[in-house]
Amino acid sequence: MREKTVAETAIHHHTYKIFPNDLNTNKTVFGGLVMSTLDRLALVVAERHSECVCVTVSVDALHFLAPAYEGEILLFSASLNRTWRSSMEVGVRVDAENPRTGEHRHVVSAYFTFVALDEKNRPRKIAPVKPETDEQKNRYQEAELRRNHRIAFSLKRKARDKGE
Ligand SMILES: CC(C)(COP(=O)(O)OP(=O)(O)OC[C@H]1O[C@@H](n2cnc3c(N)ncnc32)[C@H](O)[C@@H]1OP(=O)(O)O)[C@@H](O)C(=O)NCCC(=O)NCCS
Repeated sequence: MREKTVAETAIHHHTYKIFPNDLNTNKTVFGGLVMSTLDRLALVVAERHSECVCVTVSVDALHFLAPAYEGEILLFSASLNRTWRSSMEVGVRVDAENPRTGEHRHVVSAYFTFVALDEKNRPRKIAPVKPETDEQKNRYQEAELRRNHRIAFSLKRKARDKGE
């Protein structure tokens, strides 16, 4: 377990060609397909970093910003924003590429939080991430604010479930 840079585990422009069976009834790409692929890729980033089994604990700010259409190419990117004791935030982004014009549109973005688990499925300590570029350092700072919101929300929900 060693500190890693963001670049060491990031995924850039994983491609997915949109075929007719990938569409919803409105003839745009089915959102569930995009969400499933994002979860899978973000998990790869988390497991590359932590070098152990991880599970998704939270997804937030998942926004479908623009539709994508049959024949276009989806470009998926995922990179680690920040690590804490056992949890990590992975930022994801999807662009749609028009193969005829080469034009790119930002269509989806979100934040996935994963927890690294030990052999007994208990949260385990992970190595820190080292942000290098200014953009990575900004994401690292902003991730702390999002974590505070996530934890506050999670505590409220737990209290509600207990009937407090
Ligand atoms: C992930 C899981 C083991 C955490 O259990 P827990 O009892 O909440 O554990 P802890 O309270 O010790 O928290 C562990 C870490 O998760 C973080 N966490 C817990 N709930 C969270 C939430 N809703 N959002 C963000 N982070 C959360 C904690 O902040 C802590 O992070 P840290 O160690 O970096 O400080 C448990 O919630 C779980 O098994 N969830 C189901 C996961 C799953 O099945 N995913 C879908 C399939 S992959």
